[in-house]
Amino acid sequence: MSSGSLIDQIDAFERTALAAVQSAPDAAALEAVRIEFLGARNGRLRDLQTVLGKATKEEKPVVGKRFNEVKQRVTAEYETKQRALSRPKRAAGGLDVTLPGVRVEQGRRHPLTQTILEFKEIMGRFGFTVADGPEVEDEWHNFQALNIPADHPARDPLDNFFLATANYAARQSTASELNLTAQPAAVTGPRLLRSQTSTVQIRVMESNPPPVRIISVGRVYRPDTIDATHSCMFHQMEGLLIAEGTTMAQLKTVLRLFARAYLGHDVTIRFRPSFFPFTEPSVEVDMSWDNTGTKWLEIGGAGMVDPNVLKAVGYDPDKVTGFAFGLGIERFCMRRYRVPDIRYFTNNDLRFLRQF
Ligand code: DAH
Repeated sequence: MSSGSLIDQIDAFERTALAAVQSAPDAAALEAVRIEFLGARNGRLRDLQTVLGKATKEEKPVVGKRFNEVKQRVTAEYETKQRALSRPKRAAGGLDVTLPGVRVEQGRRHPLTQTILEFKEIMGRFGFTVADGPEVEDEWHNFQALNIPADHPARDPLDNFFLATANYAARQSTASELNLTAQPAAVTGPRLLRSQTSTVQIRVMESNPPPVRIISVGRVYRPDTIDATHSCMFHQMEGLLIAEGTTMAQLKTVLRLFARAYLGHDVTIRFRPSFFPFTEPSVEVDMSWDNTGTKWLEIGGAGMVDPNVLKAVGYDPDKVTGFAFGLGIERFCMRRYRVPDIRYFTNNDLRFLRQF
């Protein structure tokens, strides 16, 4: 037998063996291919080796070398294919359906946003519509019109976030000359981050005749020392009702009904006599933290709108009266969900936020 035909036989084996390996569709078919071609007992490679045993002495180095090459190549090809088939199957498009799924993270509203939406809904049922006002305010709306005169301690620059504008410097030098009973030119006066949402009361009354029945919800800013129940930025819900013949009893009823609507019937609301420049009489409002009757948390202030405020916006205090209240939104949310620290609301810790 010539070396040419032996080499041809090896080549032919290589072609058929590789084609069979490559076209095997699954592990079982590949195993059949292995037995047929590479099987140690009756495999075709074995047969080929037997045939090659007949090569002459001169042919042997060439034929033997080629045989080993082919054996290695087919074996390597088989192993590669075997690894590929034992990998998890991939559907068209590369999606590996055998891998555990990746959970789709669903977004949700911040607990305070949820609370605010619920507040608006509850107050809407009581007939209050929603009004809005700016967070950067002038002194007229934050103080003056609310019956907080220039020498009032609440206006101390250390207790407020005044904006560092040229206007602020101007205010410092002309404070004593300011006409404190007239509305300062809105564009020229100093500006501050509002310290209360009561500002919106003024804005609404300035541009609407009575009767008024509004709430306003938003951020307020105070340079308070931060602790578990205080923050230098928090949210308030302001309420204002102006009409003929309003009473303190109505105010207390609205606040009680509101607190129960949001917190449930086991909450107790308590009113303490207090003072605010823009209400007379004034009360501070507490809610029970639990059922022990020993722990109370202040949730805001309220009262009958001071006649000076009504005059400042051009209302006639002899014709209309009203009540107003300002509630801390974080504290309601804390009570409802037993949040022990107000700082959770702004820490952006997902372990907290995911619980709502
Ligand atoms: N503005 C007050 C504060 O931030 C809360 C308040 C008290 C609002 C009495 C009112 C009110 O509308 O009538 O502490």
